[in-house]
Amino acid sequence: MADVNTLQRGSQELMELENRYGAHNYHPLPVVLDRGEGVYVWDVEGKRYYDFLSSYSAVNQGHCHPRIIDALKNQAEQITLTSRAFYNSKLGPFDEYVTQYFGFDKVLPMNSGAEAVETAIKLCRKYAQEKLHIPEHKTKIVVADGNFHGRTTTIISFSNDEEARDGYGPYTPGFIHVPYNDTEALTQAMQEEGVAGFLVEPIQGEAGVVTPDEQYLREAKRLCQENKALLLTDEIQTGIGRTGSLLASCGPCTCQGVCERQPETYVRPDILILGKALSGGVYPVSAILADDEIMNVIQPGQHGSTFGGNPLGVQVAMAALDVIQEENLTQNARRLGEIFRAELMAYKENSKILSRVRGRGLLNAIVINDSPESDTAWRVCLRLRDNGLLAKPTQGNIIRFAPPLVMNEEQLEDCIDIIKRTLQEFE
Ligand SMILES: Cc1ncc(COP(=O)(O)O)c(C=O)c1O
Repeated sequence: MADVNTLQRGSQELMELENRYGAHNYHPLPVVLDRGEGVYVWDVEGKRYYDFLSSYSAVNQGHCHPRIIDALKNQAEQITLTSRAFYNSKLGPFDEYVTQYFGFDKVLPMNSGAEAVETAIKLCRKYAQEKLHIPEHKTKIVVADGNFHGRTTTIISFSNDEEARDGYGPYTPGFIHVPYNDTEALTQAMQEEGVAGFLVEPIQGEAGVVTPDEQYLREAKRLCQENKALLLTDEIQTGIGRTGSLLASCGPCTCQGVCERQPETYVRPDILILGKALSGGVYPVSAILADDEIMNVIQPGQHGSTFGGNPLGVQVAMAALDVIQEENLTQNARRLGEIFRAELMAYKENSKILSRVRGRGLLNAIVINDSPESDTAWRVCLRLRDNGLLAKPTQGNIIRFAPPLVMNEEQLEDCIDIIKRTLQEFE
């Protein structure tokens, strides 16, 4: 088995450089990537791999999609950053495009996912205080256990991942926890005084692709409406085609890329939070979307970002959204996801190493039949790497599988074959 010690010198040296001069805030799988195209990435020694993580669902459109790279190059030669001190010629058209694409009155663009979540929290609090007259010190947002919404001080304040939290206090107050996928607990929490909103991932990606009951989000929406609270859906990882719908909160819709927002299946949030694949992984672009009544509580000077809404980012984002629609990536994710789960579930029937297969569209996970403290999932990922496929464990014993949505059926079958062969080594 090739491991870090047997890799060729190029990779070895580069990893040593990162370890020596970079902060140790990540524990990467030992592989040094140098190039990407579509569903493939290559390491510095030229070995090719299937990317089965897609930078945590940012590269839904595939690596270096030519249409998105063209948008980047063209805009880079024209103007990259104006700040919001002035208007720029690309932001207005983007605002119009993206609000129509997702069906909201207004958009507020930011950069990283965590910034978009922060923006949504600020908007929710301000709306509650200004429009619903909830006093500041009583304003609360309900969040789910097992959440992952990013790494800022406020966001880790309501995480229950001790690794992400420990040592970073004092923490931001004003959050109530409920178990995920527990409508009863949410009903209780909503009774508390001062609840302004419920912030939730339609599927918890980082927690291990934890997929709630079909009615959970709809019930959450009903409870929010009944209690005059806002529903904030974090679709940073689940959105933009990944789960076989434009948004995971669309449910099993039949839209052709641009959301038709079918009332029977779509649970429309009050604040939609997007990031990652909004730019196809080419440039950091995130955003929140909401209707006028809510978004208009933020006025000039009350929120912002130097880079948010810059011409380079928004041109990239428009191209990235075009690609989702033009290449039917949502539909492809749904079709391939069904094949993937069917084949892995069939494998699981006679497997000792797999205890669960779950997911939606091309956001899936396998649960390794071992404790979260074991290193089995890590060793499986090392062998997957050796066999030409890159994935990473989450929560110790879960492996998330999220390939670019531009994958074709033949490539998927090849990947399923690699995964099965690798798992076989551990049976
Ligand atoms: C659901 C969710 N929200 C927020 C974030 C944070 O995004 P970023 O890392 O761009 O700040 C992530 C990142 O993995 C995520 O998966």
